[in-house]
Amino acid sequence: MRNRLLAFTACLAVFALAQACSQDKSAAPPAPGSKDSAPAAAKTSWVVGMSQCNLGEPWRVQMNKDIEEAAKARPEIKMVFKDAQNDTTVQQNHVREFISQGVDLLIISPLEAAPLTGPVAEAYKKGIPVIVLDRALLGSDFTMFIGANNKLIGEAAGKWVAGNLAGGGRVVELMGLQTSIPGRDRHDGFIKGLGGAPGVEIIFSADMKWLQPDAQREMESALARFPQIDLVYGHNDPGAYGAYIAAKAAGREKDIKFVGIDGLPHEGRAYVEQGILSVSFEYPTGGKEAVEHALKILKGEQVPKELTLKSRYFTRENLAAGGEWLEAGAAPATPGS
Ligand code: FRU
Repeated sequence: MRNRLLAFTACLAVFALAQACSQDKSAAPPAPGSKDSAPAAAKTSWVVGMSQCNLGEPWRVQMNKDIEEAAKARPEIKMVFKDAQNDTTVQQNHVREFISQGVDLLIISPLEAAPLTGPVAEAYKKGIPVIVLDRALLGSDFTMFIGANNKLIGEAAGKWVAGNLAGGGRVVELMGLQTSIPGRDRHDGFIKGLGGAPGVEIIFSADMKWLQPDAQREMESALARFPQIDLVYGHNDPGAYGAYIAAKAAGREKDIKFVGIDGLPHEGRAYVEQGILSVSFEYPTGGKEAVEHALKILKGEQVPKELTLKSRYFTRENLAAGGEWLEAGAAPATPGS
């Protein structure tokens, strides 16, 4: 009897140890990117950190608004926003703060690709799912990327320019921050879209860092150097508008066509309506999609590594009809305006 009791006690001890071990295992941080990377299924409310690189441009204000609105309809999610005010070091710190605060998921719209790649990878490797929004990072240490196809948008802009400068013309290109991926993609796509159109020449190009005041200053230099400018390609609408202001001050805005990207209703589309821009290509903020996918990830559902959003372009001719969708390979219409 005593032996049986001893054996039974020993069994109990082994069982208790096994239980403790298995509990330890499930408490360990999940391998990032694995199926188990979603936080415990029992959880029903989550804190999501949103690291915004800057709120100086209307487009980013709109992105935060889109996120806020989508999150309002999802009471399970509590959003915490941080604004890096266009400073990479501040944004790196914000990511690290979110890690130490233990947010359940991180959404980031990074200022620059290379310097933000490390901190995001740190979060991801610690088991925090990360959605990279709008500006891509290097490598693949994040859960998913959401954004539109900047190469396609740049290419469509190039095709539009080639079609609207039939017979040739002198072009100024005001580029988005060249340490960010959309700035590079919008340039590469543009050159591809121009396709070596006869007589179309880029006579001046500068990095205006996505900022209207910088674009205005660069355009003042271009105007001072070149007596003939036929078109300005701005990598975003604030850039194209900054160039327009400079041209207007020099009394030359009527000789120049202005092309921009973003197509917000109260910005790019309004400029098109007022005849300031000839065309604006939409760059959707992806805010709503980020919240939808954050919730999926938190609930343990599978998401794609990359979600590419569609975009439209707006001219005076198609504005009332809601613009026209960009399709890979197709050239935008050339209304000759
Ligand atoms: C705002 C912005 C937009 C642009 C996007 C690219 O900061 O410059 O105008 O489309 O970022 O990431």
